[in-house]
Amino acid sequence: MDNIFAPIRTDIVLQNETALLYHNYQDFLRFQHLYSSAVREIQTRLEVLNEEFSILYAHNPIHHVESRLKSTNSIIEKLRRKGCDISMESAKRNINDIAGIRVVCCYIDDVYRVEEMLLRQSDMELVKRQDYIAEPNYNGYRSLHLDLRVPIFLSDHTESVLAEVQIRTVAMDFWASLEHDIRYKKDKATLPAGINEQMLACADEIAVIDRKMQDMYHRIQAAE
Ligand code: GTP
Ligand code: MG
Repeated sequence: MDNIFAPIRTDIVLQNETALLYHNYQDFLRFQHLYSSAVREIQTRLEVLNEEFSILYAHNPIHHVESRLKSTNSIIEKLRRKGCDISMESAKRNINDIAGIRVVCCYIDDVYRVEEMLLRQSDMELVKRQDYIAEPNYNGYRSLHLDLRVPIFLSDHTESVLAEVQIRTVAMDFWASLEHDIRYKKDKATLPAGINEQMLACADEIAVIDRKMQDMYHRIQAAE
């Protein structure tokens, strides 16, 4: 069938960094649409699972979900850092977190439950898994990272879009948010002595509390 629709504005001139990444304005819109669709797709799947879980077990494993699309400048900066070409195709191939979804769960068990439910979906492809809960970062950062490909059904083809899903507990999220705030306010070199060690100690204390909360929840469930 002939396409009777005229393409939208192609006369808009892209400025500065944006022009490095995209051939034209329509490419920019298509790229944004692709990744915002991936975020929406994964968010919808998570909502469906969370709702079903609360019907079956009167418990919501997901406390809340956050998401963001990586800005054009950050995409270019990351491509440069990795020594990759600066192009849309290169960004699709080399950057896993253009679409970023953060799933904040109530308890540690819920993190792995959400992972299992997501990966059970037949069209969800796991590209990379990093379990920073089993093996925390040097500074105590904890979270489960899943780089996933999800199909996005477009008008004339299907694209498999890469997204990074970070799954963590409320307690891990509390630590990561404040650590991020502290680290980005000052660069590492100017942080007062002992801060990195204290950060690690805080992460370990929070992990102990996380396990205690999990344990209490188990005991309450067992008593019901
Ligand atoms: P990518 O290809 O960028 O994913 O490299 P990677 O797999 O080595 O990175 P990783 O998945 O370990 O980290 C990516 C994201 O995790 C960051 O953008 C942060 O959101 C989060 N993250 C990782 N380490 C830390 C940390 O020490 N503190 C905080 N607050 N967040 C972290
Ligand atoms: Mg990663």
